Amino acid sequence: MNLLAHFATLVAVGGITASASAQTLDIRHTAPDNTLVRTTADAHYLLLPVEDDAPDARIEVLDGGAIVRTFYVRLAQHAVDYTVPFDLTPYAGREILFNIVGEVPLRPHQMEKFVCWKALRLADAFDTANREKYRPVYHHTPLYGWMNDPNGMFWKDGAWHLCFQYNPYGSKWQNMTWGHSVSPDLMHWTQEPSVLEPDGLGSVFSGSAAVDSANTAGFGAGAVVALFTSAGKSQVQSLAYSTDGGATFTRYAANPVIVTEHEARDPKIFWNERLGKWNLILAHALDREMLIYSSPDLKNWRFESAFGRGYGCQKGVWECPDLFELPVRGTHEKKWVLICNINPGGPFGGGATQYFVGDFDGHRFVCDMHPDETLWMDYGKDHYAAVTWSDAPDNRRTAIAWMSNWEYADVVPTLQFRSANTLPRDLELFRLPNGSLRLGVKPAKEVESLRRGKTTFPAATLSASPVVCTLPAEADGVCEIELALDFGHARKIDLVLSNEAGESVRMTCDVHDAKKRTFAMYRQQSGATDFSLAFPATTVAPMLQTGHKCTLRIFLDRCSVEVFGANGEFAMTNLVFPSSPYTSLALSAEGGAARVEQLTVYPLGGAE
Ligand code: FRU
Repeated sequence: MNLLAHFATLVAVGGITASASAQTLDIRHTAPDNTLVRTTADAHYLLLPVEDDAPDARIEVLDGGAIVRTFYVRLAQHAVDYTVPFDLTPYAGREILFNIVGEVPLRPHQMEKFVCWKALRLADAFDTANREKYRPVYHHTPLYGWMNDPNGMFWKDGAWHLCFQYNPYGSKWQNMTWGHSVSPDLMHWTQEPSVLEPDGLGSVFSGSAAVDSANTAGFGAGAVVALFTSAGKSQVQSLAYSTDGGATFTRYAANPVIVTEHEARDPKIFWNERLGKWNLILAHALDREMLIYSSPDLKNWRFESAFGRGYGCQKGVWECPDLFELPVRGTHEKKWVLICNINPGGPFGGGATQYFVGDFDGHRFVCDMHPDETLWMDYGKDHYAAVTWSDAPDNRRTAIAWMSNWEYADVVPTLQFRSANTLPRDLELFRLPNGSLRLGVKPAKEVESLRRGKTTFPAATLSASPVVCTLPAEADGVCEIELALDFGHARKIDLVLSNEAGESVRMTCDVHDAKKRTFAMYRQQSGATDFSLAFPATTVAPMLQTGHKCTLRIFLDRCSVEVFGANGEFAMTNLVFPSSPYTSLALSAEGGAARVEQLTVYPLGGAE
């Protein structure tokens, strides 16, 4: 009896045949924790029903008896929260068998009782319109599924490429794959097919990519080369290359290219003109240091030095490094910046991005800062895994971060997708009056192309009784607010976003001590917060503006507030989940009069 005939017998005996469309699914429960699903891959997708809180089931895809894919899905046991598509087109016309195994011990017959079997479907389309209310209008998100770190970012031939840690089979972390999106302008993104999927060395953790213009690696001039962590039993660094502009990647046959003794991950590569070689910086995660390598050809790497032991924030693990040279605003001077994402240990709990300023000669990073000093790139709670694009035009150094926090990322109140990136940000250095250097962080200028109108409010004196301005209803409150403040005699200026449900985000400029002005954001009353004890938070940034005036830019999207000192003095990124959009901004001052000299609100549109 051949396998197919045998299976048909089983189905006839078991009598369990689910018909979804013209095609059929033969479902056979063979053990309490094992189900076999057979189909002919005629449809485009197999739609897998997911229950967000269910444990993972392991799915092996058998083509001609051989396991060709293994992935994990939280198959719905009691209720279907959403579905995820498994692409059948690589197996078109062939008999495919899904061997589904419960990952946790199941009681007798338990898998048989899962609700997913009734909802399992073959389909030629999958709805990615995603109408969830918290789906951002202008921040990059995957069409569906889970996303964490930005990866493999490069610019080539007019396109910004953004890969990302992606689970295409659910909205929690799993099956780490490099998803891939492309944009002409950093604002309008199109998700393309994923470029790197797990292989025998493990799943695909974070890493970077760069254009090898001089063909140092031998894959061809202009090939895009990616270095990433293969995370299996151990973490090793692997290489893949693309000769079609980043659409598809081929793994290098001699992977891994870097092996270390302890956990090390998230390689960032860059061409070092001074050295005439490539450099690579790698996070020695548990040792809380960064390892620096060099290579003539991206394949053979030589260890140069380590930086970080005893420097900056030493809590948590060190992850997702970056290292680049930046101009100092208003001078011809340049300095190197080393980015180090840490988790936990951030100033408000969970992850955050610290940076070090110093010099780098291709071999060693020498830090200018005192080892006890810690500087943060963003003072919110939702800015992690920030790294920069390779090969950006116009000498830009543009960064993007994952806009979430490992403390609660997998329980935020969205379902078909989790989560988004921050706005892309341009970086430069600036000097404080005392001579020390700080990273200037400004939203990428392309964000101005999202403006869909403009309302200018008259200048006003601020006192204890609030001046209230209405946010653009036509854009559901999605907007940029630009405001210039003169602190006058005030001790504090409050800016309060609120909605009809009485939910609010209070932001306070505490200016009573001219040397220690702070900007704080309180999201305890911002809307849904009870999904995690770690979510309600107050975040505080040093304002760093000199004089008695400051200009702020506040960006609202459906579930985020990002605030920037207009000259890049500070950035603060926080998620919020209001039950309905914020409709007004109220401004008031405490301790004396202040002035709002300019208040402009721009409704922002998205990918229309
Ligand atoms: C950071 C991180 C990286 C790792 C990736 C795995 O958020 O832990 O260090 O490569 O996520 O998804």
